Amino acid sequence: MKLLVLLALAGCGSARRTEPIAGPLALDEMAERGERVFFRYCHQCHPFGEGGVGWSLNEKPLPGFLIRAQTRAGVGAMPAFGRDQIGPDELDALVHYLVTLRKTR
Ligand code: HEC
Repeated sequence: MKLLVLLALAGCGSARRTEPIAGPLALDEMAERGERVFFRYCHQCHPFGEGGVGWSLNEKPLPGFLIRAQTRAGVGAMPAFGRDQIGPDELDALVHYLVTLRKTR
């Protein structure tokens, strides 16, 4: 009997996994804050995290500390963003948002 229940659960699980990801992104509170920062400062060059003027942010498994470094320092055509523009809390939220985006792909 127990085995049957387990099999049923396993069946459900694999059925769910083959469905395409649909609907809006589920963002937690911090990711929502990060999203606002993103649309204000980053979206113009990394539209929805994809490549634009800047490279795609979604496709690379860039660790959080490098996203921070890149944002503070700027590289090439990308401007640097100081603490006066993006505060430490906002930067935390921004990185959290970008990592969340990546998980949905
Ligand atoms: C004016 C356009 C512009 C804006 C605004 C901008 N970026 Fe960029 N970004 C770029 C360009 C161009 C590159 C590629 C730089 C290079 O390496 O030559 C880049 C690269 C990056 C990279 C490195 C990607 C990689 O794969 O190495 C990260 C991370 C990044 N940007 C994050 C951000 C974040 C976060 C913001 C918002 C705070 C932002 N960018 C705003 C243009 C921009």
